[in-house]
Amino acid sequence: MCILLFPVALLALLFLIRLWHHPTNKHLPPGSMGWPYVGETFKLYSQSPESFFADKQRRYGAIFKTHILGCPCIMISNPEAARCVLVSQAHRFKPTFPSSKERMIGPQALFFHQGEYHTRLRKLVQASLLPNAIRDSVSDIEKVVLSLLKSWECTTVNTFHEMKKLTFEVAMLAVFGSCRDLDSEGIKSLYLSIERGYNSMPLNFPGTSFHKAMKARKRLSEMLRKVMAKRRAEKVTRGGLLEILMASSKGGKRMELTDGQIADNVIGVIFAAQDTTASALTWVLKFLRDHGPLLHSVTREQEGIRREMIKGNRRLTWNDTRNMPLTTRVIQETLRAASILSFTFREAVEDVELNGYVIPKGWKVLPLFRNIHHCAEFFPEPEKFDPSRFEVPLKPNTFMPFGNGLHSCPGSELAKLEMLVLLHHFTTKYRWDVVGKESGVQYGPFPVPKQGLPIRVSNLRNRKSTTTITTTTTITLNKK
Ligand code: HEM
Repeated sequence: MCILLFPVALLALLFLIRLWHHPTNKHLPPGSMGWPYVGETFKLYSQSPESFFADKQRRYGAIFKTHILGCPCIMISNPEAARCVLVSQAHRFKPTFPSSKERMIGPQALFFHQGEYHTRLRKLVQASLLPNAIRDSVSDIEKVVLSLLKSWECTTVNTFHEMKKLTFEVAMLAVFGSCRDLDSEGIKSLYLSIERGYNSMPLNFPGTSFHKAMKARKRLSEMLRKVMAKRRAEKVTRGGLLEILMASSKGGKRMELTDGQIADNVIGVIFAAQDTTASALTWVLKFLRDHGPLLHSVTREQEGIRREMIKGNRRLTWNDTRNMPLTTRVIQETLRAASILSFTFREAVEDVELNGYVIPKGWKVLPLFRNIHHCAEFFPEPEKFDPSRFEVPLKPNTFMPFGNGLHSCPGSELAKLEMLVLLHHFTTKYRWDVVGKESGVQYGPFPVPKQGLPIRVSNLRNRKSTTTITTTTTITLNKK
């Protein structure tokens, strides 16, 4: 009897859930909710996110509803509505992440929070990443870049994997300042385990990547506690975010942070910094390789800087990086075209009215950065790689590679600096050819050219015949 009733009960339940998905409230945005519980998740994963969202936008307009990963969602590709969610009405939308991801990075990391804790913590993180705080790190970044590029000479490398090495080292500098007192390799290996687990199924039992990652996470926290204890005892200034966070925990009226809160934010910032910037760096090499005349012009700009360096017998400076207009536009266009964060997640903390629609409390809201960046109304011929579009002012709120508002990226200047330093050395000393014919995008979760863009790198000095650049300059700088 039970067996007979089970399908009927199941159907009734599915019907009820479906009703719930389609509330009679006529002010919900248009769209489709797919199947009960799974919604349109399979559809999203069977296509690329890019075509899923573009197709929806074509059918339903710039604000539409759907249901993915077990949650009813409102997707937004209207710049003004995205601004409301991220800026003017930001207090009515909280950040939201799967709890497994929160546990892995550390629940006290700033991006999971809203309100006073977030505001005060953000000030500290921002203080460590403002132009004034990072301008002296150019030569440290340069050292990392030069040693990495040397290891690429005359070999084939996986661009994304290599860029991850660079962005990890730079993130370590930003977080720890001087790393001389650290077991950097130990931190790196624990961090790698965490990363593997982060991208795996959240099954926490012995043998799974997730379980190994949770164990590594605990060990990394312990390691960071020891680093903090040692640095407190030594009273040596080493700079970086850690110093700022530790200074804030000295008591008095200022915000006191526990070691656990500091560790979560240290790991969180490294996490936010590494793959995003590595993905952008990979794309910029692809776009420059695909656009020979542009590579030529960027190289000319960088050779001009190099000539100044030779004249002044000096290394690359922060001011040089402020004087690279074309290279800067290439980076902006890369960030637009690749849209490293295709979208972000928020959750309505109450019923909110937006552009005449109601967003019910508890629903997820996703501002779709990529759709906005690829909208022909704001960026004519959006699929064309054209840095000159940044020569004129853009329409407000249409370019958000680093987000907008309360949670916008505090690391944007550091990310751009890394890209400028790498492009300076790479374009003036090397050429690269893409290996293999695979084109397209893979997501992991950020978009990267297929296979991570394998490239063969040659030193311009050794290149017998080059059709692009002929004016290579070799300089020997006096050590300063
Ligand atoms: C090209 C590289 C990067 C891109 C495209 C990028 C993009 C973003 C975006 C779109 C957000 C906002 C997310 C949201 O609103 O939900 C964000 C937040 C954040 N980013 Fe970045 N980011 C990059 C590099 C970095 C770097 C180098 C750092 C640190 C050194 C960093 C640290 C952070 C942090 C801590 C947050 C959270 C801020 C908060 O919640 O208040 N990012 N990033």
